[in-house]
Amino acid sequence: MSNKRNLRQKYARIMQGAIPADTVDQQPLKHGDEPLCNHSNNPTFASILGSRLQRRQVLRGSLAFAVTSMFAGPIANALRPAAATAQTSSMLGFKAVPVNTTDAIVVPEGYTARTLIPWGEPITGSYPAYRLDNTGAEQGMQVGSHHDGMHFFPIEGASPSEGSSSDGLLVLNHEYVEPRYMHPSAIGLALDSDGVPMKGTVRDADEVLKELNGHGATVVRIRTQADGNWGVVRDDLNRRITMLTPMAISGPVRGSNLVKTKYSPDGTLTRGTLNNCGHGVTPWNTYLTCEENWAGYFRNGDVAPASNPGEIAPNLPREQARYGVATGVSRYGWELAETGADEYIRFDVSTKAASPTEDYRNEPNTFGWVVEIDPFDPNSTPHKRTALGRFAHETVSFQPVVEGQPVVCYSGDDARFEYIYKFVSAQPYRAATASGALLDEGTLYVAKFNDDGSGEWVALAYGQNGLTPENGFTSQADVLVNTRLSADFVGATKMDRPEWGAVDPTTGEVYFALTNNSRRTEEQVNAANPRPQNNTGHIIRWREVGEIATSNTFQWDLFVLAGSPDNSRTLEGKSLDADNIFSSPDGLWIDPSGRLWIQTDMSESVLNKGDHEQYGNNQMLAADPRTGEIRRFLTGPMGQEITGVVTTPDQRTMFINVQHPGATATAEDFVAGSLPSSWPDHAAGMYPRSATVVITKDDGGVIGS
Ligand code: FEO
Ligand code: CA
Ligand code: CA
Repeated sequence: MSNKRNLRQKYARIMQGAIPADTVDQQPLKHGDEPLCNHSNNPTFASILGSRLQRRQVLRGSLAFAVTSMFAGPIANALRPAAATAQTSSMLGFKAVPVNTTDAIVVPEGYTARTLIPWGEPITGSYPAYRLDNTGAEQGMQVGSHHDGMHFFPIEGASPSEGSSSDGLLVLNHEYVEPRYMHPSAIGLALDSDGVPMKGTVRDADEVLKELNGHGATVVRIRTQADGNWGVVRDDLNRRITMLTPMAISGPVRGSNLVKTKYSPDGTLTRGTLNNCGHGVTPWNTYLTCEENWAGYFRNGDVAPASNPGEIAPNLPREQARYGVATGVSRYGWELAETGADEYIRFDVSTKAASPTEDYRNEPNTFGWVVEIDPFDPNSTPHKRTALGRFAHETVSFQPVVEGQPVVCYSGDDARFEYIYKFVSAQPYRAATASGALLDEGTLYVAKFNDDGSGEWVALAYGQNGLTPENGFTSQADVLVNTRLSADFVGATKMDRPEWGAVDPTTGEVYFALTNNSRRTEEQVNAANPRPQNNTGHIIRWREVGEIATSNTFQWDLFVLAGSPDNSRTLEGKSLDADNIFSSPDGLWIDPSGRLWIQTDMSESVLNKGDHEQYGNNQMLAADPRTGEIRRFLTGPMGQEITGVVTTPDQRTMFINVQHPGATATAEDFVAGSLPSSWPDHAAGMYPRSATVVITKDDGGVIGS
């Protein structure tokens, strides 16, 4: 009781003003180095057993009965198709590929990989061919950069998983850009992967435009050609969504004072979507794109007197400080575009005018959301679905829908010590009328993982669980804009960087990648995050109690502790070995046959270095969720991460993305023209480019079988 009161007193203080800026990581944001912004002291569980791996074994034993019991219910039988229950042999029919440090895609024997739609591929407008000196406007007619979450929508437009396997809309998002590979002016400059060419103290406005247009999402029709290979179709459905596309703010935050800006004085609109990483696919056939590390794209120069007389300190509101908005320069300095146009100066969110509707102090509050895009309506306005919370979103993964029942989905917040969330719609799903409106009204929950293998979902609902005016929360819009603080307040479990989640469509079991967390100490470990200095990550999974998707409780287990042979553990109780060692799980997807696909994102700071040398380049593995068997399916080129994975409905074509090849080039490498990757073009004068990869089995069979 007194602990709870102490906790609330601490948070009452935080709520009353900005978090002191000196408690927030203000390092310039680097890809793969998400800022540490959670300085709350809500409970982490003390170590309860001497050996972390022993503890996991104990947990598995205690959970076995509960998990078996949960599986026996009628819903599981209804969800599990006959083919899945009849399958008794391994799901994995390919020979593992070894770890690799080649500048190529390597797939198992009997498979072929081809590239499709690299960054700069023309898809709309005047279809300008890719050249280094493409203008900003031309970039807006081409595939964006740094491909990430992706789905193949069969061209019929009726279902996200059924229909044509030879014709459809490929929809993918674009996480970020590397300006040094975008602009002729960068040649000869010592730029690292976030470095930008400057014109004195300002930035060239067309270069800024090109970077804004390199972000967002791509909708492109693709079809198999006469030679059997996939190609781009020049189609009216092709579309680029960028950092300039008008978007509606929907859900509880719409119209709130927290999102009123000079651009949208009534708080209903914003421009563009930023740093989109994972994605989601709704049961009503739309694409969700998830805003991840958006905070560092903004800078706030506001200051206030510091505790030392005569000194001043950054003075950020809590809805910026808790997310890591920069206090110096922003990630790419877009606010410095030489024209000073409104669409660029909005990235400086300092207080500049008398009221919030005359400046952009609230602009960051219009980011950090899940954005819904209807790929089959090229004129549709994307919607920011605020009921799903504001954080560094990774994927949105849906439970299988049941007619007349609420829609349930999950999303993780990828930063160290952040949380996993679940959304339950207020209205029931009806196939005939389902739409994005289902995501505008409902309850957002945050996860508590107990050490005994149980878990609970705690509602982040205004007026409940202490989210009240006396504790500094004034409305549901306020709770949602401050999702992280709300989750801190209710004592959610701090996780090791939640990346993608995946729901097994046959069982309703949920898997989440916890990619790594080098900052967790011995004192901060808990059963769900059992390793201090967790440099290699793990995958957690759970089932809702009673197999009821809307349940407030769940039972969890660890699927795999990733890492080296002497610091890893599979579900079978084995160590990972040459066929499957991996580090830093990120992308997850469960295919229609039930295979769990695992993609890795070892950061550029560790890739092919030191302890991480043994894992080679970033890779993709496949796992059998029933047995825990894991096998390496693919390795990628130098400096990249593998991300995004989906197959056609017949599972005979797989699409994956290669993001940021060559990102490991240092500033010195870049200025010397000594790049670690020239993938995929491997041609003189061509920089490395992110691209989609099409994988087929030479015998025409199901991928992975
Ligand atoms: Fe963009 Fe969390 O990876
Ligand atoms: Ca990711
Ligand atoms: Ca990642």
